[in-house]
Amino acid sequence: MTTIIDGKAIAAGLREKIAGAAADIKAKHGVTPALAVVLVGEDPASQVYVRNKHAATEKAGMRSIEHKLPETTSEADVVALVRKLNGDEEVDGILVQLPLPEHISSDRVINEIHPDKDVDGLTEANAGRLILGKDGLIPCTPQGSVILAKTVTENLSGLHAVVVGRSILVGKPLAMLLLAENCTVTIAHSRTKDLAAVCREADILCAAVGVPRLIKGSWVKKGAIVIDVGINRIEEDGKTRLVGDVDYDGAQDRAGAITPVPGGVGPMTIACLLRNTVIAAARRRGLGAVDV
Ligand code: GUN
Repeated sequence: MTTIIDGKAIAAGLREKIAGAAADIKAKHGVTPALAVVLVGEDPASQVYVRNKHAATEKAGMRSIEHKLPETTSEADVVALVRKLNGDEEVDGILVQLPLPEHISSDRVINEIHPDKDVDGLTEANAGRLILGKDGLIPCTPQGSVILAKTVTENLSGLHAVVVGRSILVGKPLAMLLLAENCTVTIAHSRTKDLAAVCREADILCAAVGVPRLIKGSWVKKGAIVIDVGINRIEEDGKTRLVGDVDYDGAQDRAGAITPVPGGVGPMTIACLLRNTVIAAARRRGLGAVDV
C-alpha cells in the first residue's frame, strides 16, 4: 500500500498550530507578529502567491503588510524600502517576492534584508547558518519537504536521500536539512551521469528540477519516500494541468509514500513561511521559544 502524503491536510494542521502560537504571543505579550511582503511589478503568478500569503497570514491571526510597487521602481527604491522595514519595530518578517524585474538585482535586494527578519531564509547569513548548523531562518519549501518526509518516518537517520536539483531556493538547502537529519545525502543535477541509477539508490527521493515528469516510475526504489517539489504547468489533452517533476502514475506503485502535485509540497511553503514569521517574532522580541 502506498501512502499518499496529504500536504494540504498537514499544512492546515501546521497553520492551526501556528495560529495557536500567534494567539499565545498576543495574549502573553500584547504583540501581533507581522509579515511584510514586497511585490514589484505585475507578474500574474507572483500576484496570486502574494494574495495567498496575505490571506493565510491574516487567517493565522497575524498582521500582513503589503507593499506593491510598480514595475519601473528602481533598485535603490526597493533597497530603501527593505531598509525601512528592517528598522520598523512592528515588522517581524520581510519577504521580497521573486522574481524581481530584470533591472533589479535580487541578490542585492535579498541581502539587504536583516537576517533575523529574513523569513524566506535566503540571505547569505541564513544560508551560512544552515550550513554551520546554527539557529537561523530556514527556506520554506525545503523545510516543508522535510516535515512531509518525517510524517512517514519520524527518524530519517541513516537513510539515503537523493536530491535532484541544486537550486539556491530548494535543492541546496534541502540537502543541508536532510544532512542535519543524519541522512546520507546525494545531490544530483543536470550533469549527473546515469541519473536513473542514482535515483534507484534513494530511500528518500526528492525532485526539485522544474522538468515535468523527469523522474520515471522505474527510477523509484520499491518502498521509497518520494517528495515531489516540482509544480509545472503543461498542456495535455487540450487542458492545462499542474504536474510534478515525478511521473506520478508510474511512481505511485513503487513508492512507499509519495506527495501528489498539486496538494503535496506546495501548501507547505506558505505554512512554513508563517512558521518562520512566528519564530522570527519570538526570537527578535525575546519572547522565548515557540513550539511550532
Ligand atoms: N517566488 C517563488 N517562490 C518564492 C519563494 O519561496 N520566495 C520568494 N520570495 N519568492 C518566490
